[in-house]
Amino acid sequence: MEAPLIDPFARPISYLRVSVTDRCDFRCVYCMAEHMTFLPKKELLTLEELDRMCSAFVGLGVRKLRITGGEPLVRRDIMTFFEGMTRHLDSGALDELTLTTNGSQLARFADQLYAAGVRRVNVSLDTLDDEKFARVTRWGRLEQVLKGLDAAQAAGLSVKLNAVALKGFNEDELFTLAEFCAARGMDLTWIEVMPMGDLGNEDRVGQYWSLNDLRAQMATRYTLTDLPERTGGPARYVRVEETGQKIGFITPLTHNFCESCNRVRMTCTGQLYMCLGQEDMADLRPALRNHPGDDAPLREAIRNAIAHKPKGHDFDYSRQRADGQVSRHMSHTGG
Ligand code: GTP
Ligand code: 5AD
Ligand code: SF4
Repeated sequence: MEAPLIDPFARPISYLRVSVTDRCDFRCVYCMAEHMTFLPKKELLTLEELDRMCSAFVGLGVRKLRITGGEPLVRRDIMTFFEGMTRHLDSGALDELTLTTNGSQLARFADQLYAAGVRRVNVSLDTLDDEKFARVTRWGRLEQVLKGLDAAQAAGLSVKLNAVALKGFNEDELFTLAEFCAARGMDLTWIEVMPMGDLGNEDRVGQYWSLNDLRAQMATRYTLTDLPERTGGPARYVRVEETGQKIGFITPLTHNFCESCNRVRMTCTGQLYMCLGQEDMADLRPALRNHPGDDAPLREAIRNAIAHKPKGHDFDYSRQRADGQVSRHMSHTGG
C-alpha cells in the first residue's frame, strides 16, 4: 500500500485537475489572449498517456479528478479517456470524476458523460445577455451554452454555474443569474478574477470586483446563511433563505483559502503545477516516456514534485503589472 501524498505543509493531496487540451472554442477575455498560439498536437500527451498519468495519481491516493482545458470537450476522442477513468470509479478508488466546461459541446456529450460516471459538471457562464456573452467570450453564442445546460440536466447531471465577477460587466446580473439558477435547480459560484495572463489589454483594466462587495449587494435583497459544507474545491457556500439555493464564493483575493489546499494541476503536456498562482512546475513526461512498462519512476517524480508544493499564491492587484503576476494564461492549467 502506497503512502498518501502529503505536501510540506501537511496538506493531503487528493484532488487532481487535468487540462487535456490548451485549445478552446471561446477566448474569454480574462482567460486567453485573442490570438493564442496553441501547442502543436504532437506535444500533447496521448489519451493513453493521460490515462497512465491519472491512474498513477489515483494509485497515490487522488480521489477527485476534474478534467479541464482549454475546453476539455473539444479534444478529439476525449470520451475514450472518460470511459477509461470509469474503472477507477467502479473499483472505488475514485470518489468523483468531473469536468469544468464552457458548455458549448454539452448538448453533444452530456449522455456519454453520464454513462462514463460523471454526475456533476461545472459550466462557466458569466452573463445571460447574448451581446455581453459574445463580448466576454469574444465570439461565443449563448444559445449554444443554454442548450448544453438543458442537455446536461436532461441527462441527469447536476450543474453548477461558475461566474467570474467582473466590475462593470456583470454587476447588474447578480440577481438575474441567481434567479436563473434557482429556477433550474442549479448551484451558482462566483469567482474573483485572478491576475493571470496578459493584463495589458483594455478589456482587463479595472475588471476586479471583490466578492465582499458582491456579497454585501446580495444581502440587500436576500438573507444569506453561511454553510459549513465544502465540496473538496475552494468555494465557501451560503444558502439563500428566500429561494433555498446554494451560492458559492471563490475568493483567492479577499479570503485566501490556500491553507486548506488539497489539489495540484497537470497540463496537457504533462507538467505538474503545484499551485495555480505560482510558476514552479515539474515535468512528469520524462518519467512517463522513458519507462514505458514501469510506473515506479512516475510515482517517484510525482512524490518529488509534491514535496515542493508552495504554501500558496500571492495574488495582489495593488502590485499589478501589465504581464500579469503569473504570466501564463489561465487556460494553460485550466483554472
Ligand atoms: P467544485 O468541485 O464544484 O468545488 O469545483 P472547483 O471549484 O474545485 O472547480 P472549478 O473548476 O469549478 O473551479 C472554479 C474556480 O476556482 C476556477 O476559477 C479556478 O481557477 C478556481 N480555483 C480552483 N482551485 C483553486 C486554487 O487552488 N486556487 C485558486 N486561487 N483558485 C482555484
Ligand atoms: N480569474 C478567475 N477565474 C478564471 N477563469 C478563467 N480565467 C480566470 C481568471 N483570470 C475561470 C473560468 C472557469 C474556470 C475554470 O476558471 O471562467 O470557470
Ligand atoms: Fe475557454 Fe474557459 Fe478560457 Fe473561456 S474561460 S476561454 S471558455 S477555457
